[in-house]
Amino acid sequence: MTVKITVLSENTSGTAEGLLAEHGLSLYIEKDEHRILFDTGQASPVLLNNANKLGVDLKQVDAVVISHGHSDHAGGLANFLMLNKRDIPVYVHPLVFEEKFSIQPGPNNTDILRDTSVRFTRSYLESYGAKFEEAADPREIFPDVLLTGQIPRVIDFENADTPLRVRRNGELIHDNVLDEHSIIIRTPKGLILLLGCCHPGLINTIEYAIQLTGETHFAAIIGGTHLMFHSEALLQQTLEALNRYDIELIGTAHCTGSKANALIRAQFGGRFKEFNVGTVAVLA
Ligand SMILES: [Fe+2]
Repeated sequence: MTVKITVLSENTSGTAEGLLAEHGLSLYIEKDEHRILFDTGQASPVLLNNANKLGVDLKQVDAVVISHGHSDHAGGLANFLMLNKRDIPVYVHPLVFEEKFSIQPGPNNTDILRDTSVRFTRSYLESYGAKFEEAADPREIFPDVLLTGQIPRVIDFENADTPLRVRRNGELIHDNVLDEHSIIIRTPKGLILLLGCCHPGLINTIEYAIQLTGETHFAAIIGGTHLMFHSEALLQQTLEALNRYDIELIGTAHCTGSKANALIRAQFGGRFKEFNVGTVAVLA
């Protein structure tokens, strides 16, 4: 079995000339003969530019997984589809196209809504070949490649309020991003857990991966951890909880942030690595 991950979109770029960074995420996964794009970054030139510079042929991709319906993960899908030009399965949760917002402080104690939804309509994306495969339940999309589906929230301290909102049945309500799912790859060396933005919580996601597979050894956990948005207390609770698990490599990206990165590095030492644009990891 071979598993190779290449980071195509992320908040920081590596040192190679011409790579672009953005607040977003896209991982290119080569698993045996399968080519999977996990997230697409923003509606920007970043994905196509970086794929070109890194020698990744996006025309070879045979499936896309969108971790959740936020524009920094799904926005690049239109550019990808226009390049790929084939009918292609796009695995999503059924709530991915809801209207999503983040509330930010405006002048004079007002709130400002920022639209964080997928930048394109479903029918527009379908017209370029997207075949949306929706499910909230766990499923195996290729041999030993699992999608978690909706992740149960069982960890109390990860159930914090956030500035995220969703318009559901005409009402603007708190969004706990039920549509976020993660990828689990089973390998002889252990599980590889790939995270988009980790809105369900890092520990909730790890717990669910263990529950779904019955395995407890993680060869790698890679992706966005959402820790940059967490309070100091929550960050400490997460780090303490992380100690309980058997993790060979933790590869942080996107919404982890420099503070959490420093703390995880201090705790994990040589088992920690930042995954920035251009990072290539052969994991199995
Ligand atoms: Fe994100």
